[in-house]
Amino acid sequence: MNLSIVGNGYVGLVTAVGLAGNGHEILCIEQNTAKVDSINQGKSPIHEDGLNNLLFNSVKRKRNLRASSNHQEIVGTDITFLCVGTSCSSGGSIDLSCIETSAQEVGRALATKENYHVVVVKSTVVPGTTAQRIIPLLERFSGKKVGQELGVVVNPEFLQEGKALRCFLNPDRIVIGESDKTAGDVIEGIYEDFDAPVLRTDLNTAEMIKYVSNAFLAAKISLINEVGNICQKFGVDVYTVAHAIGHDPRIGHRFLNAGIGFGGSCLPKDLQGLISASREMGYCPQLLESVLAVNKAQPMRMVEIAERKLGGLQDKKIAILGVAFKPDTDDVRESPALKVIQALLQKGALVKAYDPVAMPNARRELSTGVEYCDSAREAISDSDCVLVMTEWDEFKSEELYRGKLVIDGRRVLSPQKAGAVCDYQGVCW
Ligand code: UGA
Repeated sequence: MNLSIVGNGYVGLVTAVGLAGNGHEILCIEQNTAKVDSINQGKSPIHEDGLNNLLFNSVKRKRNLRASSNHQEIVGTDITFLCVGTSCSSGGSIDLSCIETSAQEVGRALATKENYHVVVVKSTVVPGTTAQRIIPLLERFSGKKVGQELGVVVNPEFLQEGKALRCFLNPDRIVIGESDKTAGDVIEGIYEDFDAPVLRTDLNTAEMIKYVSNAFLAAKISLINEVGNICQKFGVDVYTVAHAIGHDPRIGHRFLNAGIGFGGSCLPKDLQGLISASREMGYCPQLLESVLAVNKAQPMRMVEIAERKLGGLQDKKIAILGVAFKPDTDDVRESPALKVIQALLQKGALVKAYDPVAMPNARRELSTGVEYCDSAREAISDSDCVLVMTEWDEFKSEELYRGKLVIDGRRVLSPQKAGAVCDYQGVCW
């Protein structure tokens, strides 16, 4: 089929490349012309495992993927995926401006189309958004009626950055929230080669499923972090506890890694978005608010430990290993590392940072005051203290830290082995 993908960030581009791999003809619609050029040259504008190769293959060899900044070209496609960002506004509710503008542009383009078209909302939006905000715009600007010449589907993504392509190609489930059966059938057809349960729902339920997935994962992380803080008081190792409780299939082992908590463009934003939406509906979600509060406090424990061990931070040289919000990505959005760096700078510390891929993005986010290094060894060399913020493989050798004060925020080191070569402190173990 001919598919158009509007918005080509992590979600859009992975969806585009994944579906191109299944033989569809893909048109990426992107307003950022630098991204359009990059995609058309077969070069991924983002760092994501395997994406570059597959993109190159589709653009240059199979020639079934191309990019354009002209929304009008959507007319030549059968289905349009809306994958634009829905960032957080200052009050915590989601910012719909991008997706609303996209819905208008798509509507305008579809006004000149004769055949049936399905619009798929992949962006994360709170329940009710597609029905109350997106469909009215599509109908107004296209002059068509949903359920007749137009179908609308909410098809949330459950991709983890760093392994997004693998998640896309091997989904746990495919959720299809549909305006009507015809639209749902068309989108189920797109996924016919995928080996995963397909769950058909209404639009609002599909929107909610996405939020609850992320809220549950966030809650799991904050729970184990709080448990870690308690365990540490009792001299108990939270990782041993997590391993044991994870054997209960009702709990499971995944997402029980205690540390400095969750960052990224999704869990914090979606949790905040669900909290705001609940409050707007007159319900105060106390548990979800606590999940956020625990997550906000957790990275600051690194700063407190450093301050206590060094007797203050003024003019102390602190090495930061890892600025990405997790390994295998160059994404620094909501990264706990950036929050810790800002707190350290405020307290007068001299910060030297190293990350294998995320330094250009960190440079853009942090104004001044950080010295960027070419290697972990260089950052560590004359430091008074080393803070490990991201579990990149290259940070996992105890030898790297010989003789140093090391505060491990991600359990990259074995406390026993590290304890033999350095002054090792875990954030909550
Ligand atoms: C998350 C979800 O996992 C995806 O299912 C979802 O599709 C995506 O958001 C989204 O909404 O688009 P992502 O933000 O890429 O994916 O990253 P995760 O792997 O979930 O990690 C989030 C954060 O939690 C990271 O900072 C990670 O270090 C932290 N984390 C994760 C922990 O602190 N402990 C854990 O046990 C697991």
